Amino acid sequence: MTSTFSICAPALMGFGASLAIGEKCAELGVKKAILVFDQGVENAGLTKGVEKSLKDAGIDYVVFKDVAADPTDVSIEAGGKVGREAKVEAVIGVGGGSVLDTAKGINVLMGNPSPLSDYFLGGKPTNPGLPIFLIPTTGGTGSECTLSCIVTDVKARRKTTIRSKNCNLSTLAIVDPELMMGLPPLLTAITGIDAFAHAAECATNNKTNPVSDALAKEAIGNLVRHLPRAVADGSDREAREKVAISAMMAGTAFANSLPHLGHCFGHSIGATLHLPHGLAVGAAIAQALCFVSDAVPEKIRAVGSAMGLDMSSAGDPISIGRKVGEAVLKFKEEIKLPALKDQKGVTREAVVSAHPLVTKDGCYPFSAKKLTEDQTKELLGKMYDGVL
Ligand SMILES: [Fe+2]
Repeated sequence: MTSTFSICAPALMGFGASLAIGEKCAELGVKKAILVFDQGVENAGLTKGVEKSLKDAGIDYVVFKDVAADPTDVSIEAGGKVGREAKVEAVIGVGGGSVLDTAKGINVLMGNPSPLSDYFLGGKPTNPGLPIFLIPTTGGTGSECTLSCIVTDVKARRKTTIRSKNCNLSTLAIVDPELMMGLPPLLTAITGIDAFAHAAECATNNKTNPVSDALAKEAIGNLVRHLPRAVADGSDREAREKVAISAMMAGTAFANSLPHLGHCFGHSIGATLHLPHGLAVGAAIAQALCFVSDAVPEKIRAVGSAMGLDMSSAGDPISIGRKVGEAVLKFKEEIKLPALKDQKGVTREAVVSAHPLVTKDGCYPFSAKKLTEDQTKELLGKMYDGVL
């Protein structure tokens, strides 16, 4: 079987990296940019360094901060209008997944005519966007290194994806752990488990991608060692840096080798119960890995080894799956990830009612093992109960 590894954004990493944004824009001859962030980022003062850097380098900028939580095509169109009217020459996003998706969507519109909905359902933007700089403030989505932009289609009331290498892939991703130092423990856990799921799923799908595998294994090991520390003590600089870089590595892995059942279940639970992406995916990942173990036992064994487990005693595919699944449940306890059953208003019946969506999810074709309806319902029940 052949495999391709081609999606990789240039990245500048390390404490203080975001302070180079002005210089990086100037190197490309950019004189005016649109700076995209949201209220949470503004309240935390996370754009101060970036704005000073732009001013020091003589780069003018307009601000767009009306970012929707699950960015809609309507909100992105508003950002595109701001960018077009100001005749900007670059797009800069500073924030979590919603902000980075909004910046990507705006960049589609900087190179291509409205409406954004023309590029849904596989209609690709043909023209390149502007130079785009993506600066994450959470260690989770890895969106700074992927070419996907996830948009809520308001008319159709569903999420859709625009994949575009020449509009959505960072000209430069800037991963600055300093911007994540104040992230509260709960958000650190929710975004960090998403990064873990990206890595673990990419390494266990029905494809082969040795380069993604290597990135995923490194990210898994780092996250298991350092995410609990970042949750317990947000001021732990080494842990923050390891989590930030691991999220980017996992993002690069899944830009080349897609996730499977953890995200199928996570998307379905999240959409049905309106839960944050990381919380829903985190509820599903242990059971998803355990379920596919008899189809891809050696891949699951490799995840266990990357987690630091001694896998030599796990001989058959079922015991490999259970050993890794149990370790993931323990990891979730260490990072104090809230359980589904502790969420207000979330019942077992409501979680199981998400079952029709699971096998329709875009990640389902990448699962190494197919689900029956009964298995889907049973797994959803186990995800609610928090058992394998
Ligand atoms: Fe995810």
